[in-house]
Amino acid sequence: MIQPDEYIRSLLKRQPGESVTARGWVKTRRDSKNVHFIQLNDGSSPVDLQVVLDAGLVPPETVAAITTGASLSVEGALVASPGKGQAVELKARTVKVHGAANPETYPLQKKKHTLETLREIGHLRPRSNTFGAVFRVRNALAFAIHKFFQDRGFLYVHTPVISASDAEGAGQLFEVTTLELGKPPDFTQDFFSRKTFLTVSGQLEAEIFAHAFANVYTFGPTFRAENSNTPRHLAEFYMIEPEMAFCDLKGNQDLAEAFLKSLVEQVMEACRPDLEFLTKWYEPELLKTLDGLVNSRFERITYTEAVAALQKSGKNFEFSTEWGADLQSEHERYLTEELFGKPVIVTDYPRAIKAFYMRANDDGQTVGAMDVLAPRIGEIIGGSQREERYDVLKQRIAEQGMPEEAYWWYLDLRRFGGVEHAGFGLGFERMLMYLTGMKNIRDVIPFPRTPGNAEF
Ligand code: 4AD
Ligand code: MG
Repeated sequence: MIQPDEYIRSLLKRQPGESVTARGWVKTRRDSKNVHFIQLNDGSSPVDLQVVLDAGLVPPETVAAITTGASLSVEGALVASPGKGQAVELKARTVKVHGAANPETYPLQKKKHTLETLREIGHLRPRSNTFGAVFRVRNALAFAIHKFFQDRGFLYVHTPVISASDAEGAGQLFEVTTLELGKPPDFTQDFFSRKTFLTVSGQLEAEIFAHAFANVYTFGPTFRAENSNTPRHLAEFYMIEPEMAFCDLKGNQDLAEAFLKSLVEQVMEACRPDLEFLTKWYEPELLKTLDGLVNSRFERITYTEAVAALQKSGKNFEFSTEWGADLQSEHERYLTEELFGKPVIVTDYPRAIKAFYMRANDDGQTVGAMDVLAPRIGEIIGGSQREERYDVLKQRIAEQGMPEEAYWWYLDLRRFGGVEHAGFGLGFERMLMYLTGMKNIRDVIPFPRTPGNAEF
């Protein structure tokens, strides 16, 4: 096993003269008359360790096996590197090839591959420079999320993956069953003696916990069977859902803004070289927009104001900008990129287009919803103040044609110690798109699940 101080990231920071062992996979080998130069990487760093192997030190068949993709252990001494980019390189004394990678058949050769091609080799793409950077950022973001909430005393709660309720009421559910396919289903005979689904959101269960621990959050996989093959939708994605008792829509917005700023700051601190790499190769504006987010004050407007701004824009939008229509990606981009040039929180959407649990406003037309829209991405967070009034909630459930009996425990929370509360959901992969500059959500998750795709 590689010990913490043996990662290439650590070796690159050590002093010349030290004896070390480096382990990893070969990026490239280059030969000159007297030496072989090997670029070695173990996934810990966007910078490779350069190994210098004197010609004749190991048998020719060993050298021949040191090709792109092969796994090696190299023991030797760190020496000051004459090249730019790294302070030290490794002068090899012994080399062990653990596994060769035939250059005739190894698909991940040095040349630059398109992201689409890399998706087809999902078992090898983590070894590429691009996906090395993306998955280190993903790791740092997960850690930053826990840090943010733990520092504020939020309780981390695991909500179930298998659920009997449709939390969003949108009907985009994957059913979970052990019944035989093809026969008329009798759900009383099913595994759970009822119909169950993969969860679309942990919110309703998080609300239960918020009524005991005040400030809580979930962070887990969610599933949506929406048949939309877009660059922003996955069938399986991760969502972070904080839920706060004694909190209204204003507190919810404040938390969302502080949360996003903290995440960007933490990841910029943890993954600077990766973000520089991604800026260079994928999104020239990346570091600038990340800095911009940290230093801006998010714009806050109501849905009604947003609609007025869209109508006044003089733009020829494809989708309707009538009051009552949902905001589409093109509208979200106009607001964030052109009109305000920064993240925008849109609140108080028409009640007809939002979920049953959102708190009804006094105007009778709108609910206490909030979407956080980010430049380049559009909707990154969806949230709301929740309806805490028993009678109003009951009526909303009926109004949306939902089965009241399935929500008895959710209604109970409003009968026993109910309190105003609010929360939101951050799409983990949408946030990663924002942080990495990747334009397709399939390129920020290790193994994307989309309509027709579940290979790896
Ligand atoms: O806006 P949504 O549907 O909100 C909820 O699920 C609430 N229960 C959250 C809450 O209030 N606790 O989803 C939240 C976020 C979206 O803003 C988006 O970033 C992401 O989840 N998201 C998706 N990400 C990838 N693929 C999909 N199919 C997504 N659907 C939503
Ligand atoms: Mg939403």
